Amino acid sequence: MISDDLLRAQLPHTLRQVDLPALGELYRGKVRDNYTRGDRMVMITTDRISAFDHVLGTIPFKGEVLSRLTTFWFDKVKDIAPTHLLAAPDPSVMVVRQARALPVEIVIRGYITGSLWRDYQAGKAGAYGIAWPAGLRKDQRFDQPIITPSTKAEYGQHDEPISEAEILRQRLVAPEVWREAIAVAQRLFARGQEWAASRGLILVDTKYEMGISGGKLTVIDEIHTPDSSRYWVADGYAERFARGEEQEMLDKENVRQWLIKEHGFSGHGAPPALSDEVRVMLARKYIEVFERLTGETFASPIGDVGARIERNLRATGYLPA
Ligand SMILES: Nc1ncnc2c1ncn2[C@@H]1O[C@H](COP(=O)(O)OP(=O)(O)OP(=O)(O)O)[C@@H](O)[C@H]1O
Ligand SMILES: [Mg+2]
Repeated sequence: MISDDLLRAQLPHTLRQVDLPALGELYRGKVRDNYTRGDRMVMITTDRISAFDHVLGTIPFKGEVLSRLTTFWFDKVKDIAPTHLLAAPDPSVMVVRQARALPVEIVIRGYITGSLWRDYQAGKAGAYGIAWPAGLRKDQRFDQPIITPSTKAEYGQHDEPISEAEILRQRLVAPEVWREAIAVAQRLFARGQEWAASRGLILVDTKYEMGISGGKLTVIDEIHTPDSSRYWVADGYAERFARGEEQEMLDKENVRQWLIKEHGFSGHGAPPALSDEVRVMLARKYIEVFERLTGETFASPIGDVGARIERNLRATGYLPA
């Protein structure tokens, strides 16, 4: 594992944003800077971290970890469904096929935790149209993974829970496309859980985005990253669950917990600034999950990420030389 000294050395060089108008039309998400031209999109994963829909700052090597994990997983699931990936000209960049995104995000959960647990406890988990059994306990495993869709909100808006019946009634997705999308999500999740288990991790839940590209249902965005998924350490899960203790989390929940516990922040008002200490701690979590899943030791040169990306895009012809 990369040393804290190296992580600290990268703090001043993290990638906040990219300004390369020659790549096309810019759509800046919370985490990615996306440049579209024609039916091709250059997705640059910056080092920005968001929580509760606020961008909080940057984390060393986060963009590279997320982008490399997504290409890693796309390769593992390519027999299940087509993905949008065309090329990866830099460790933080994916060139993808632009898709017509479904207006819903497909969240699939193997365990009850997080926002679903809070809603279930408060008797407010009805929006998904699912008959929840009584007496579930926090972090309990479901017999079968459960899909809890949410609407994909416009920039700056919060995603909202929605039921399958509502998706179909409002014709947000055609019935046959929806059926295929949930079947694909179930297969992707089963594959993800199986691989994670073989690496000592539990893939607890995740979110898929899908779209139509070239007339085919296509997996888009990122998959099975610690931003879009929860990961727990498998070793000791049962004991912690039995004792009612928190699970050992290797995902974005760490930053949410830090915000809530240290600053009482859960999304309202201006978010607190991340200390360098917490930025380094979070970088370690992202890198740990990368190393566990891939079996590789993470290494990346210290230095300006934006300059490297530009160099790689020129060398591969996406930018004029
Ligand atoms: N192949 C694709 N075609 C079209 N859109 C895509 C594709 N892959 C990803 N996207 C969209 O590109 C954006 C990626 O940027 P990012 O992940 O930073 O956004 P976000 O903050 O999650 O979402 P928001 O759009 O709410 O800002 C998302 O809006 C995602 O839905
Ligand atoms: Mg996103």
